[in-house]
Amino acid sequence: MKNPYRPILTTIQKITVENEVKDLKTFRLVFCSDEEANDFHFQCGQFAELTVFGVGECPIGIASSPMDKEFLEFTVKRYPDGLVTNALHNCSVGTRIGVRGPLGNCFPMERMEGRNMVVVGGGFAFTTLRSTIRYILHEANRAKFGNLVLVYGARSPGELLYKDELKEWESREDIETHITVDKGDESWTGKEGFVPAVLEQVAPSPDNAITLVCGPPIMLKFTLPVLTKLGFEPNEIVTSLEMRMKCGIGLCGRCNIGSKYVCRDGPVFTYEQVQALPAEF
Ligand SMILES: Cc1cc2nc3c(=O)[nH]c(=O)nc-3n(C[C@H](O)[C@H](O)[C@H](O)COP(=O)(O)OP(=O)(O)OC[C@H]3O[C@@H](n4cnc5c(N)ncnc54)[C@H](O)[C@@H]3O)c2cc1C
Ligand code: FES
Repeated sequence: MKNPYRPILTTIQKITVENEVKDLKTFRLVFCSDEEANDFHFQCGQFAELTVFGVGECPIGIASSPMDKEFLEFTVKRYPDGLVTNALHNCSVGTRIGVRGPLGNCFPMERMEGRNMVVVGGGFAFTTLRSTIRYILHEANRAKFGNLVLVYGARSPGELLYKDELKEWESREDIETHITVDKGDESWTGKEGFVPAVLEQVAPSPDNAITLVCGPPIMLKFTLPVLTKLGFEPNEIVTSLEMRMKCGIGLCGRCNIGSKYVCRDGPVFTYEQVQALPAEF
């Protein structure tokens, strides 16, 4: 049996600075061993523990798609006082990084097949939603899903992640994109407004639809009532929770909410499941 604490060795192949403040970077990692690359199978919504050797590890959602066979991508926000995220941001191309995973459950991909998809994202929590959109838009998968509507927002134009990819999606016919910023600048010609308000204007139909929603707690707080008003049932609203974690495999008890371990039973939960969690959450 494999040791679940042993990180797999990867090398940073590419680093993309995502935002003007430069505290969001996407790391493209390639496996050092072909055998380990072939053994690493993940699904959209899962995460991994990234190790900076000699510093520590931290959980990060997988931002690339399972269809991206050659690499893994992770988008990491640097916390000013964050041990591992600072160390990651100081790494360069060629640095060896450990990857422990894939961990956690995933978005309900099988249940999503044949359904219309409404994807709602805010801020840098967009990472695993980006993985899912890349997966759905892949030519081998697109026909398995119905309409795809995306509502994604950030504080300002400079804070939007994956800017080139967003442009490409906007030019496609098989995804309806609504990109918004809280406040635009002189060059911004797109939508202005908070994600819940834009979602209410777009008003996607709940018919045969599942919605994936990831964002900061304040966005979730105002988005969930909009979805309910639009007619989405709590078990058709899927979200991903973030908690402080240690082991990532349900053994240390650091991440539990009531009887649920977010690392093992989640991080993906339906709104129906979230409502059943203890009230303090
Ligand atoms: C399942 C999951 C997926 C995640 N995906 C991503 C991702 O895709 N990209 C990304 O940038 N981050 C993601 N995170 C958050 C990331 O794990 C933390 O930012 C990271 O652990 C901070 O590590 P650090 O050593 O730099 O900070 P630490 O030195 O541990 O702490 C620095 C500061 O950050 C705060 N902090 C640390 N972790 C969290 C947290 N989980 N929530 C709120 N505040 C926190 C601490 O309170 C402290 O103020 C995810 C977390 C989980 C559980
Ligand atoms: S992080 Fe150890 S049980 Fe979840």
